[in-house]
Amino acid sequence: MSLIDGQGRQFKSLRISLTSACNYACDYCVPEGTLLKASPEALSGEDLMRLVSLLHRVLGLSKLRLTGGEPLIAPNLKTVLRAIPELGIDTSVTTNAQFLSRHCQDIARAGLSGVNVSLDALDPEVFRVLAKSGDVGTVLQGIEDALALGLRVKVNTVPMRTKNRDQLAPLFDWCSQRGIELRFIELMRMGHLSNPAAFEADFISEAEIVDLLSEFGPATQQPREANSTSYSYLNERGKFGFISNESAPFCSDCDRLRLSSDGRIFGCISSTHNRDIRPALAMETADALAFIQEALGDTLKSKQPVRFSGEQTIMQIIGG
Ligand code: 5AD
Repeated sequence: MSLIDGQGRQFKSLRISLTSACNYACDYCVPEGTLLKASPEALSGEDLMRLVSLLHRVLGLSKLRLTGGEPLIAPNLKTVLRAIPELGIDTSVTTNAQFLSRHCQDIARAGLSGVNVSLDALDPEVFRVLAKSGDVGTVLQGIEDALALGLRVKVNTVPMRTKNRDQLAPLFDWCSQRGIELRFIELMRMGHLSNPAAFEADFISEAEIVDLLSEFGPATQQPREANSTSYSYLNERGKFGFISNESAPFCSDCDRLRLSSDGRIFGCISSTHNRDIRPALAMETADALAFIQEALGDTLKSKQPVRFSGEQTIMQIIGG
């Protein structure tokens, strides 16, 4: 079974969901009133990392990212962090940073190369309306603590017209003062946002945001690197980036694979098609590798040619 598809795409970058639980309930992720819980079959840190090392042996991974739900509330976090250095793969984490102050030392000690913080507002009230929980002051302190330890921090913001449009310029201001790259993630048509009316009401395009930030001076667009979902703009104040699935879809060279906290692999963020690779845990290594190789070949077929639109959300269980 070939592990390269007709568009030359391979799996090189693995996102590992440590837990499907989240302490937030952001409007772009879940419908109002939903709270994400841990899978009843969530794996221990040891088992999850055994699967990661098997995947690495088949694929020769070049990047890992720890995600959720919210990874910093995962019971297996410490075990996973301890296992990262011996893998020798460039690893980072995506978090809402509510508990970053508490965990940033362990993160730095594990040699992680960076922390991507999901932050959608600076105003405490707007923040809570969007996230339904948490405290923005604590998040900002977490970012400062991570920076003080020398960790590279990036901020990810999902712009939504009816929620945080007035927060985008202040967020850029705050980030650029600290040398932090801010990346806007265009709203994605996933889950409840597959509904066109709900999506259209809140979608803000890349072009509109570039225009909105022109108060900080003219910006020039930098070219996108291969396999990168994002590209940046530079202005006098600093850099801001975009992950623009709508304005500039990036599936054509996507190299991502996703592993859920209960041991299933997904080839596309917008496809629910997955393969359970937990049986590999009970196999001899040679059999486990063959089993995983076959599952990967099947999973690779989920990738979309150009752009995606979610059939049902899986973002919640496998992170952004
Ligand atoms: N559109 C865009 N980004 C999303 N995320 C989750 N749901 C969506 C969506 N519908 C991203 C957010 C968050 C990360 C964990 O997942 O950027 O930072």
